[in-house]
Amino acid sequence: MTETVFARHEHPNPTSAAERAAILAEPGFGKDFTDHMVSIDFTADPDHPDGGLWHDARVEPYGPISLSPAASVLHYGQEIFEGLKAYRHADGSIWAFRPEANAARLNRSADRLALPVLPERLFLDAIGQLVRADRDWVPGGEGEALYLRPFMYASEAFLGVRAANEVAFKVIASPAGNYFGGELKPVTIWVSRDYARAGVGGTGAAKCGGNYAASLKAQQQAAAHGANQVLFLDPAHENAVEELGGMNVFFVFADGRLVTPQLTGTILEGVTRSSILQLGRDMGLTVEQRRITLDEWASGVRSGEITEVFACGTAAVVTPIGRLLDGDEVIESAGGTETTLALRERLLGIQTGAVEDEHGWMHRL
Ligand code: COI
Repeated sequence: MTETVFARHEHPNPTSAAERAAILAEPGFGKDFTDHMVSIDFTADPDHPDGGLWHDARVEPYGPISLSPAASVLHYGQEIFEGLKAYRHADGSIWAFRPEANAARLNRSADRLALPVLPERLFLDAIGQLVRADRDWVPGGEGEALYLRPFMYASEAFLGVRAANEVAFKVIASPAGNYFGGELKPVTIWVSRDYARAGVGGTGAAKCGGNYAASLKAQQQAAAHGANQVLFLDPAHENAVEELGGMNVFFVFADGRLVTPQLTGTILEGVTRSSILQLGRDMGLTVEQRRITLDEWASGVRSGEITEVFACGTAAVVTPIGRLLDGDEVIESAGGTETTLALRERLLGIQTGAVEDEHGWMHRL
Protein backbone atom coordinates (compact mmCIF):
# COMPACT_ATOMS: atom_id res chain seq x y z
CA MET A 1 0.00 0.00 0.00
CA THR A 2 1.33 3.47 -0.82
CA GLU A 3 2.18 5.91 1.92
CA THR A 4 -0.41 8.59 2.64
CA VAL A 5 0.51 12.08 1.48
CA PHE A 6 0.56 14.48 4.42
CA ALA A 7 0.48 18.23 3.88
CA ARG A 8 3.30 19.85 5.87
CA HIS A 9 2.96 23.10 7.77
CA GLU A 10 6.23 23.77 9.54
CA HIS A 11 6.20 25.47 12.93
CA PRO A 12 6.97 29.16 12.27
CA ASN A 13 8.68 29.55 15.63
CA PRO A 14 10.00 26.19 16.85
CA THR A 15 11.50 25.61 20.30
CA SER A 16 15.13 26.76 20.43
CA ALA A 17 17.84 24.10 20.58
CA ALA A 18 18.82 25.33 24.07
CA GLU A 19 15.26 25.13 25.38
CA ARG A 20 14.82 21.67 23.88
CA ALA A 21 18.10 20.50 25.39
CA ALA A 22 16.93 21.71 28.82
CA ILE A 23 13.68 19.73 28.44
CA LEU A 24 15.50 16.61 27.22
CA ALA A 25 17.98 16.83 30.10
CA GLU A 26 15.16 16.02 32.50
CA PRO A 27 12.15 14.57 30.73
CA GLY A 28 9.33 13.91 33.16
CA PHE A 29 6.03 12.60 31.85
CA GLY A 30 3.48 14.37 29.69
CA LYS A 31 4.40 17.96 30.50
CA ASP A 32 6.42 19.14 27.49
CA PHE A 33 5.35 18.70 23.88
CA THR A 34 7.21 18.71 20.59
CA ASP A 35 6.81 21.36 17.91
CA HIS A 36 4.38 19.51 15.65
CA MET A 37 1.30 17.33 15.70
CA VAL A 38 -0.45 15.23 13.09
CA SER A 39 -4.12 15.72 12.28
CA ILE A 40 -6.48 13.74 10.04
CA ASP A 41 -10.21 14.38 9.76
CA PHE A 42 -13.08 12.01 9.09
CA THR A 43 -16.41 12.77 7.49
CA ALA A 44 -19.11 10.13 7.49
CA ASP A 45 -20.71 9.20 4.17
CA PRO A 46 -23.40 6.54 4.18
CA ASP A 47 -22.64 5.75 0.51
CA HIS A 48 -18.97 5.05 1.18
CA PRO A 49 -18.09 1.34 1.72
CA ASP A 50 -16.14 2.26 4.90
CA GLY A 51 -18.87 4.56 6.18
CA GLY A 52 -16.92 7.68 5.33
CA LEU A 53 -13.55 9.09 4.43
CA TRP A 54 -10.39 10.09 6.30
CA HIS A 55 -9.04 13.24 4.67
CA ASP A 56 -6.79 16.28 5.10
CA ALA A 57 -3.84 14.40 6.62
CA ARG A 58 -1.33 16.99 7.74
CA VAL A 59 1.66 17.71 9.93
CA GLU A 60 1.09 21.06 11.57
CA PRO A 61 2.45 23.19 14.41
CA TYR A 62 1.56 21.84 17.85
CA GLY A 63 -0.98 24.20 19.37
CA PRO A 64 -4.56 24.78 20.55
CA ILE A 65 -7.28 23.12 18.53
CA SER A 66 -10.40 24.87 17.45
CA LEU A 67 -13.56 23.07 18.53
CA SER A 68 -17.20 24.09 18.56
CA PRO A 69 -18.63 24.37 22.11
CA ALA A 70 -21.28 21.97 20.82
CA ALA A 71 -18.71 19.35 19.73
CA SER A 72 -20.18 16.11 20.99
CA VAL A 73 -16.92 14.95 22.61
CA LEU A 74 -17.37 17.79 25.12
CA HIS A 75 -20.81 16.54 26.10
CA TYR A 76 -20.87 12.78 25.64
CA GLY A 77 -17.19 11.87 25.83
CA GLN A 78 -16.93 10.03 22.50
CA GLU A 79 -13.13 9.82 22.62
CA ILE A 80 -10.39 7.20 22.56
CA PHE A 81 -6.60 7.32 22.75
CA GLU A 82 -3.42 5.30 22.59
CA GLY A 83 0.04 5.48 24.13
CA LEU A 84 3.24 4.21 22.54
CA LYS A 85 6.89 5.14 22.53
CA ALA A 86 9.66 5.83 20.01
CA TYR A 87 13.24 5.00 21.03
CA ARG A 88 16.57 6.34 19.82
CA HIS A 89 19.05 3.56 19.10
CA ALA A 90 22.83 3.90 19.42
CA ASP A 91 23.23 4.50 15.67
CA GLY A 92 20.73 7.38 15.81
CA SER A 93 17.89 5.45 14.15
CA ILE A 94 14.44 5.77 15.71
CA TRP A 95 12.08 2.87 16.34
CA ALA A 96 8.55 2.47 17.62
CA PHE A 97 7.62 -0.51 19.80
CA ARG A 98 4.77 -2.65 18.41
CA PRO A 99 2.84 0.21 16.80
CA GLU A 100 0.68 -2.30 14.91
CA ALA A 101 -0.63 -3.52 18.28
CA ASN A 102 -1.63 0.04 19.18
CA ALA A 103 -3.29 0.52 15.79
CA ALA A 104 -5.30 -2.68 16.36
CA ARG A 105 -6.30 -1.66 19.89
CA LEU A 106 -7.28 1.84 18.73
CA ASN A 107 -9.67 0.19 16.31
CA ARG A 108 -11.10 -2.11 18.99
CA SER A 109 -11.69 0.99 21.12
CA ALA A 110 -13.15 2.81 18.09
CA ASP A 111 -15.58 -0.03 17.55
CA ARG A 112 -16.75 0.11 21.19
CA LEU A 113 -17.14 3.91 21.14
CA ALA A 114 -18.87 3.95 17.72
CA LEU A 115 -15.98 5.86 16.15
CA PRO A 116 -14.68 5.11 12.65
CA VAL A 117 -11.95 2.57 11.95
CA LEU A 118 -8.58 4.16 11.15
CA PRO A 119 -6.64 2.02 8.63
CA GLU A 120 -3.44 0.64 10.18
CA ARG A 121 -1.41 2.17 7.34
CA LEU A 122 -2.70 5.64 8.21
CA PHE A 123 -1.90 5.12 11.89
CA LEU A 124 1.68 4.03 11.11
CA ASP A 125 2.19 6.84 8.60
CA ALA A 126 0.88 9.38 11.12
CA ILE A 127 3.36 8.41 13.84
CA GLY A 128 6.18 8.12 11.28
CA GLN A 129 5.44 11.62 9.97
CA LEU A 130 5.39 13.15 13.44
CA VAL A 131 8.57 11.45 14.63
CA ARG A 132 10.40 12.43 11.45
CA ALA A 133 9.26 16.06 11.84
CA ASP A 134 10.38 16.15 15.50
CA ARG A 135 13.19 13.60 15.54
CA ASP A 136 15.47 15.92 17.55
CA TRP A 137 12.98 15.55 20.40
CA VAL A 138 13.56 11.81 20.89
CA PRO A 139 15.62 11.45 24.09
CA GLY A 140 18.32 8.81 24.24
CA GLY A 141 19.00 8.41 27.97
CA GLU A 142 18.33 5.25 29.94
CA GLY A 143 14.61 4.61 30.36
CA GLU A 144 13.77 7.59 28.13
CA ALA A 145 11.74 7.75 24.92
CA LEU A 146 9.40 9.96 22.95
CA TYR A 147 5.89 9.20 24.18
CA LEU A 148 3.37 9.31 21.35
CA ARG A 149 -0.26 10.03 22.13
CA PRO A 150 -2.66 9.30 19.24
CA PHE A 151 -6.28 10.21 20.00
CA MET A 152 -9.61 10.35 18.21
CA TYR A 153 -12.70 12.35 19.16
CA ALA A 154 -16.15 13.38 17.99
CA SER A 155 -15.70 16.90 16.60
CA GLU A 156 -19.20 17.34 15.15
CA ALA A 157 -21.24 20.19 16.61
CA PHE A 158 -24.43 18.30 17.48
CA LEU A 159 -26.20 17.75 20.78
CA GLY A 160 -28.34 14.78 19.84
CA VAL A 161 -27.05 11.56 21.36
CA ARG A 162 -25.72 9.53 18.43
CA ALA A 163 -22.35 8.64 16.94
CA ALA A 164 -20.75 11.73 15.43
CA ASN A 165 -20.46 12.17 11.67
CA GLU A 166 -17.35 14.31 12.00
CA VAL A 167 -14.36 12.97 13.82
CA ALA A 168 -10.77 14.10 14.30
CA PHE A 169 -7.65 11.97 14.79
CA LYS A 170 -4.46 13.54 16.09
CA VAL A 171 -1.05 12.52 17.33
CA ILE A 172 1.01 14.59 19.74
CA ALA A 173 4.39 13.71 21.23
CA SER A 174 6.14 14.31 24.53
CA PRO A 175 9.66 13.41 25.71
CA ALA A 176 9.29 10.94 28.57
CA GLY A 177 11.39 9.68 31.46
CA ASN A 178 10.10 7.81 34.52
CA TYR A 179 6.29 8.13 34.80
CA PHE A 180 6.54 8.31 38.59
CA GLY A 181 9.36 10.87 38.50
CA GLY A 182 13.00 10.57 39.56
CA GLU A 183 14.78 7.23 39.80
CA LEU A 184 12.98 3.90 39.54
CA LYS A 185 11.73 2.85 42.96
CA PRO A 186 8.90 0.62 44.24
CA VAL A 187 5.51 2.34 44.22
CA THR A 188 2.71 2.25 46.79
CA ILE A 189 -0.80 1.20 45.75
CA TRP A 190 -4.12 2.18 47.35
CA VAL A 191 -6.98 -0.31 47.13
CA SER A 192 -10.18 1.38 45.98
CA ARG A 193 -13.09 0.01 48.01
CA ASP A 194 -15.47 2.85 47.12
CA TYR A 195 -15.20 2.99 43.34
CA ALA A 196 -15.09 0.51 40.47
CA ARG A 197 -13.43 1.25 37.15
CA ALA A 198 -15.59 -0.84 34.84
CA GLY A 199 -18.48 -3.25 34.76
CA VAL A 200 -19.61 -6.14 32.57
CA GLY A 201 -20.68 -4.84 29.15
CA GLY A 202 -19.12 -1.44 29.84
CA THR A 203 -16.08 0.19 28.29
CA GLY A 204 -13.38 -1.29 30.55
CA ALA A 205 -11.49 -2.94 27.69
CA ALA A 206 -11.52 0.21 25.56
CA LYS A 207 -8.90 2.91 25.93
CA CYS A 208 -11.35 5.78 26.25
CA GLY A 209 -11.03 8.97 28.23
CA GLY A 210 -14.15 8.16 30.25
CA ASN A 211 -12.45 5.20 31.95
CA TYR A 212 -9.66 7.44 33.13
CA ALA A 213 -12.06 10.20 34.21
CA ALA A 214 -13.86 7.58 36.30
CA SER A 215 -10.57 6.61 37.97
CA LEU A 216 -9.62 10.11 39.12
CA LYS A 217 -11.68 10.29 42.32
CA ALA A 218 -10.11 7.02 43.48
CA GLN A 219 -6.70 8.29 42.38
CA GLN A 220 -7.25 11.38 44.56
CA GLN A 221 -7.98 9.10 47.52
CA ALA A 222 -4.81 7.16 46.74
CA ALA A 223 -2.74 10.35 46.66
CA ALA A 224 -4.32 11.52 49.94
CA HIS A 225 -3.04 8.29 51.52
CA GLY A 226 0.45 8.76 50.09
CA ALA A 227 0.00 6.15 47.35
CA ASN A 228 1.13 6.47 43.73
CA GLN A 229 -1.65 4.51 42.05
CA VAL A 230 -5.05 3.07 42.78
CA LEU A 231 -5.99 -0.61 42.46
CA PHE A 232 -9.44 -1.46 41.14
CA LEU A 233 -11.20 -4.67 42.15
CA ASP A 234 -14.11 -6.64 40.78
CA PRO A 235 -16.44 -6.98 43.79
CA ALA A 236 -18.72 -9.29 41.76
CA HIS A 237 -15.89 -11.86 41.66
CA GLU A 238 -14.56 -12.01 45.23
CA ASN A 239 -12.57 -8.83 44.80
CA ALA A 240 -10.58 -10.11 41.86
CA VAL A 241 -7.70 -7.81 41.00
CA GLU A 242 -8.51 -5.80 37.87
CA GLU A 243 -5.93 -3.14 37.06
CA LEU A 244 -4.36 0.02 38.41
CA GLY A 245 -5.48 3.51 37.38
CA GLY A 246 -3.32 3.40 34.24
CA MET A 247 -1.42 0.11 34.20
CA ASN A 248 -1.71 -3.68 34.42
CA VAL A 249 -0.46 -5.74 37.36
CA PHE A 250 1.68 -8.92 37.55
CA PHE A 251 2.65 -11.36 40.32
CA VAL A 252 5.83 -13.45 40.50
CA PHE A 253 5.46 -16.67 42.49
CA ALA A 254 8.31 -18.43 44.28
CA ASP A 255 7.73 -21.55 42.17
CA GLY A 256 8.41 -19.70 38.89
CA ARG A 257 4.87 -18.73 37.92
CA LEU A 258 4.11 -15.33 36.43
CA VAL A 259 0.46 -14.46 36.95
CA THR A 260 -1.67 -11.59 35.66
CA PRO A 261 -5.46 -11.08 35.67
CA GLN A 262 -7.11 -12.60 32.62
CA LEU A 263 -8.83 -10.38 30.06
CA THR A 264 -12.46 -10.32 31.09
CA GLY A 265 -13.68 -7.41 29.00
CA THR A 266 -13.38 -5.10 32.00
CA ILE A 267 -9.61 -4.57 31.91
CA LEU A 268 -7.35 -3.07 29.30
CA GLU A 269 -5.33 -5.37 27.05
CA GLY A 270 -1.98 -3.66 27.56
CA VAL A 271 0.64 -3.92 24.83
CA THR A 272 3.29 -4.05 27.56
CA ARG A 273 1.18 -6.68 29.35
CA SER A 274 1.18 -8.99 26.32
CA SER A 275 4.92 -8.36 25.74
CA ILE A 276 5.70 -9.28 29.37
CA LEU A 277 3.71 -12.50 29.00
CA GLN A 278 5.90 -13.40 26.00
CA LEU A 279 9.16 -12.38 27.70
CA GLY A 280 8.14 -14.37 30.78
CA ARG A 281 7.70 -17.47 28.61
CA ASP A 282 11.05 -16.76 26.95
CA MET A 283 12.65 -16.64 30.41
CA GLY A 284 11.19 -20.05 31.28
CA LEU A 285 8.50 -18.78 33.64
CA THR A 286 5.11 -20.48 33.72
CA VAL A 287 2.70 -17.85 32.57
CA GLU A 288 -0.89 -17.78 33.85
CA GLN A 289 -3.70 -15.40 32.95
CA ARG A 290 -6.37 -16.03 35.53
CA ARG A 291 -8.51 -14.52 38.22
CA ILE A 292 -6.41 -13.55 41.22
CA THR A 293 -8.12 -12.06 44.26
CA LEU A 294 -6.95 -9.43 46.70
CA ASP A 295 -6.99 -12.15 49.40
CA GLU A 296 -4.61 -14.28 47.34
CA TRP A 297 -2.32 -11.26 46.90
CA ALA A 298 -2.29 -10.54 50.66
CA SER A 299 -1.93 -14.15 51.80
CA GLY A 300 0.59 -14.97 49.05
CA VAL A 301 2.85 -12.10 50.06
CA ARG A 302 2.55 -13.05 53.75
CA SER A 303 3.33 -16.73 53.16
CA GLY A 304 6.18 -15.97 50.77
CA GLU A 305 4.42 -17.71 47.88
CA ILE A 306 4.29 -14.40 46.00
CA THR A 307 7.77 -12.93 45.91
CA GLU A 308 7.28 -9.92 43.63
CA VAL A 309 4.45 -7.73 42.39
CA PHE A 310 4.84 -5.17 39.62
CA ALA A 311 2.91 -2.73 37.48
CA CYS A 312 3.41 -2.40 33.74
CA GLY A 313 2.30 -0.17 30.92
CA THR A 314 3.73 1.95 28.14
CA ALA A 315 4.12 4.90 30.48
CA ALA A 316 5.10 2.88 33.57
CA VAL A 317 7.30 0.35 31.67
CA VAL A 318 7.80 -2.20 34.48
CA THR A 319 7.68 -0.74 37.98
CA PRO A 320 7.96 -2.76 41.21
CA ILE A 321 5.06 -2.46 43.66
CA GLY A 322 6.37 -2.01 47.20
CA ARG A 323 3.31 -1.89 49.41
CA LEU A 324 -0.44 -2.13 49.23
CA LEU A 325 -2.66 0.06 51.41
CA ASP A 326 -6.11 -1.40 52.06
CA GLY A 327 -7.83 1.02 54.44
CA ASP A 328 -5.75 0.84 57.61
CA GLU A 329 -4.14 -2.41 56.60
CA VAL A 330 -0.65 -2.27 55.08
CA ILE A 331 0.50 -5.23 53.01
CA GLU A 332 4.23 -4.99 52.49
CA SER A 333 5.60 -6.68 49.40
CA ALA A 334 8.08 -9.48 49.91
CA GLY A 335 10.73 -7.04 48.74
CA GLY A 336 12.01 -9.12 45.84
CA THR A 337 12.61 -7.42 42.51
CA GLU A 338 14.89 -9.88 40.70
CA THR A 339 12.42 -11.17 38.11
CA THR A 340 10.73 -7.77 37.79
CA LEU A 341 14.00 -6.06 36.97
CA ALA A 342 15.09 -8.88 34.63
CA LEU A 343 11.84 -8.49 32.66
CA ARG A 344 12.22 -4.72 32.65
CA GLU A 345 15.80 -4.93 31.44
CA ARG A 346 14.91 -7.36 28.67
CA LEU A 347 11.99 -5.23 27.51
CA LEU A 348 14.00 -2.00 27.57
CA GLY A 349 16.90 -3.82 25.88
CA ILE A 350 14.69 -4.77 22.94
CA GLN A 351 13.16 -1.30 22.80
CA THR A 352 16.52 0.48 22.83
CA GLY A 353 18.23 -1.93 20.44
CA ALA A 354 20.63 -3.41 23.02
CA VAL A 355 18.94 -6.85 22.93
CA GLU A 356 18.02 -8.77 19.79
CA ASP A 357 14.41 -8.18 18.72
CA GLU A 358 13.57 -11.84 18.21
CA HIS A 359 9.82 -11.25 18.08
CA GLY A 360 10.01 -8.55 15.40
CA TRP A 361 8.43 -5.98 17.69
CA MET A 362 10.41 -2.92 16.60
CA HIS A 363 9.24 -0.76 13.71
CA ARG A 364 11.71 1.67 12.15
CA LEU A 365 10.32 5.17 11.70
C1 COI B 1 0.11 4.42 28.83
O1 COI B 1 0.81 3.69 29.55
O2 COI B 1 0.43 4.72 27.69
C2 COI B 1 -1.14 4.92 29.32
O3 COI B 1 -1.98 5.21 28.54
C3 COI B 1 -1.31 5.04 30.78
C4 COI B 1 -1.60 6.41 31.29
C5 COI B 1 -0.50 7.38 31.14
C6 COI B 1 -2.93 6.90 30.85
